[in-house]
Amino acid sequence: MTFTFDPESADCSGALARLGAIGFTEAAVAERLGLEDLNDLQWKAAPIYRQARLAERDPLASAIDLFVLQGALEARELGRLFDPEAQGALVRAGLLARAGAQVRARASVYPVGSRLVVSDHAWVDGGAVPRDQVMYVGTDSRWLARATVRRPVAASLDLCCGSGIHALLAASHAGTATAVDINARAVACTAFNARALRLANLEALQGDLYAPVGDRRFGLITANPPFVPAPAQEVDYRDGGPSGEDVQRRIVEGLPRHLAPGGLAQIVTELGEREGEPLEDRLRLWLGGAPMDVHILRLRVHPAQVYAIGHAVGDDNAAFLASVGRWHANLQAQGYDRVVSVLLAFQWSDDPWTRVDEAVAPSRDAGAEVEALFSAERLARDPSLRDRLQRGRVVLAGPVALLEARALGMRVPPTTQARLAAQAMPVEHILAPLERDLLERLDPGASVADLLAAAASAGIPAQAVMDALVALVHKGLARPA
Ligand SMILES: C[S@@+](CC[C@H](N)C(=O)[O-])C[C@H]1O[C@@H](n2cnc3c(N)ncnc32)[C@H](O)[C@@H]1O
Repeated sequence: MTFTFDPESADCSGALARLGAIGFTEAAVAERLGLEDLNDLQWKAAPIYRQARLAERDPLASAIDLFVLQGALEARELGRLFDPEAQGALVRAGLLARAGAQVRARASVYPVGSRLVVSDHAWVDGGAVPRDQVMYVGTDSRWLARATVRRPVAASLDLCCGSGIHALLAASHAGTATAVDINARAVACTAFNARALRLANLEALQGDLYAPVGDRRFGLITANPPFVPAPAQEVDYRDGGPSGEDVQRRIVEGLPRHLAPGGLAQIVTELGEREGEPLEDRLRLWLGGAPMDVHILRLRVHPAQVYAIGHAVGDDNAAFLASVGRWHANLQAQGYDRVVSVLLAFQWSDDPWTRVDEAVAPSRDAGAEVEALFSAERLARDPSLRDRLQRGRVVLAGPVALLEARALGMRVPPTTQARLAAQAMPVEHILAPLERDLLERLDPGASVADLLAAAASAGIPAQAVMDALVALVHKGLARPA
């Protein structure tokens, strides 16, 4: 029962507006299902959600059942959710289909923040995923949506757009939002969504990566490419060839030709990691020497064995184990010890830097936090920083949470981890003992002259104090007042 995304079909904007009016937002749906994050939704728990969270059939419960859990509604319940006009539009567009006395949705409606995105169902009945399946709004889709820096740009480009999620979001802060996908159904899905959301500044184009946009440059480029290092190409929206790099490498290679001066490219992906080969070396190679800052946010590390088991499929035990073997053998052939989920950012630079941060995956909008990391990097590199610090005061960049680990029975100093508190995407920093001591003195702020004097009386050289303060600024934990 696949859905034909037809941007020219009946206008579903009224029905989507009704979903907005009943509070069908990402936060409300997660809360109703008892989830901290909608990314924690599990298909296999659908009967439990229904029983425990959706027993009271108000319109929000009906919408969640129909459009999130792929359930069926009786006509009377549907009538409480949509008026006849909205129902008619959904049926004429083919999004709703009658099955006996019940109605089912042929595609899902994914709440992303307060936007709604229609795409194919996340859970496909039966065997293989159809080749032209449009990707559901997945964990990686939400991570990129949340981490995208939302500043006004003249033009944005979303490569590998799928449902169009990133272009649909960019359309609210870009003069024009262009979305490209090689899959004609994905292009139609994006156009369908743009129409249903009444976004007139979005163009959806079919083609291979940058091919449909010629030499145009963009102030924001987003991409969630197929990135899985797969032994065989089975799911087109997911698999990036045996290395996982077939598509993502070409996206990075094309950035120097398509990223506008002052622009930002943000990519969510997975990269296979080899011992002794930093990921940044590969990214620099793909950039071909273009002077760009490269920011790598490491979100999750999947050991090769875990990755193989997580991707294996099979109808019975023997088939499943054989599949595990194939996935693992492919990772070994690539030399990958592990696969890392990352958010990458690239921008033009006069003085290119590479920064690697360990972060907790974003739980809500975190674009401002990404920008703050860039500001911290720029500030720490500013040649005048030490002078400014020496003449003034330093304060915490925000409330800081400290986590201290001591190894009992070993003669090693305790390790302190610090992160800014109340962040959507907390970045974890290991602190040197002197950095930790200084950090404790920075609330509500301290004059650097006083810090230096106190350190001198404890026999700590001024140079070490200044280095530690610059390190705290670089980590984004402190800043000059
Ligand atoms: C992982 S899905 C991402 C979908 C969507 N952007 C999201 O974040 O949910 C990858 C998408 O890349 C598209 N794709 C694969 N190869 C491509 C290529 N060479 N050029 C353009 N799109 C491509 C697939 O059709 C699929 O829609």
